[in-house]
Amino acid sequence: MQLQNHNKLVIPRVFPSVSISMMPPVLTALISQIVALMGSSIVTVLISQFAMESSLDPLWWGLMQGIFSAAVGHYLGMARWWLPINLMFVPAILLVLALDLSPLWFLGAFLLLLLIYGKVYQTQVPLYLSSGEAIEAVASLLPKDPGFSFVDLGSGCGGLLQQLNKARPDGIYHGIEAAPLPFILSKFRSLIGVSDWRVSWGDFWQMDLSQHDVVYAYLSPVPMALLWRKVREEMRPGSILISNSFVVPGIEPEVTLKLGDFSGSTLYLWRL
Ligand SMILES: C[S@@+](CC[C@H](N)C(=O)[O-])C[C@H]1O[C@@H](n2cnc3c(N)ncnc32)[C@H](O)[C@@H]1O
Repeated sequence: MQLQNHNKLVIPRVFPSVSISMMPPVLTALISQIVALMGSSIVTVLISQFAMESSLDPLWWGLMQGIFSAAVGHYLGMARWWLPINLMFVPAILLVLALDLSPLWFLGAFLLLLLIYGKVYQTQVPLYLSSGEAIEAVASLLPKDPGFSFVDLGSGCGGLLQQLNKARPDGIYHGIEAAPLPFILSKFRSLIGVSDWRVSWGDFWQMDLSQHDVVYAYLSPVPMALLWRKVREEMRPGSILISNSFVVPGIEPEVTLKLGDFSGSTLYLWRL
């Protein structure tokens, strides 16, 4: 699960267990579809044998496949929001195929999604951006003294870093991003104009956080417990962790700021 190496936290790149609950949800979704395919094939054979229907309408078959895979997904303990995805996956494919589009559209959409979300199966942290209100609130939580170092873990397209650099140009701003397209966009943004912030491409689990006074994370519930361990091991006393929307399980924040933005986000601050 997690290895100690000279007091630094090293996150392994492979999933060490084959238990369903430890699997990335996308693999559980794949298993649900495969199991559902067996169920829907059996029902199709039974219908053709006993109802004397020579073939089933593909859309009805797709819906049956969706219902089976949602049921299997539920049985395997997938999060509730996955179930509509399981349900609609095959019917949506059939409907899009019926549009008879050029295969290049699919290739283009696939490449675009791969460049933005290609690592989500591993990180379980998709791209969504901090709101303007969240950025203003983060600016109000920054240290009063100049020269502080701030890092955005998973900096997306760099919007937060750019805005903070405008609001408080007396800080030093860094971002690290794993997804290629958001990284390229943010790199480009950091090079144009008069802004002064840096972004690198990489995995924040491999980054040493000890040089930063403020760590900002807008991730997902999945990595928060592990992130807290990393922060505790690496950050200096007095430095702060700010999380947008996601709490560290069992650790009371020093500050909780409820925001009135479109997603009703909350900022949590912990002082080390
Ligand atoms: C919710 S977005 C937040 C974007 C930006 N920080 C903001 O607040 O607008 C999370 C980002 O973290 C990136 N990410 C997730 N895990 C990562 C990792 N281990 N290393 C680097 N980036 C990661 C994702 O690719 C995604 O772009």
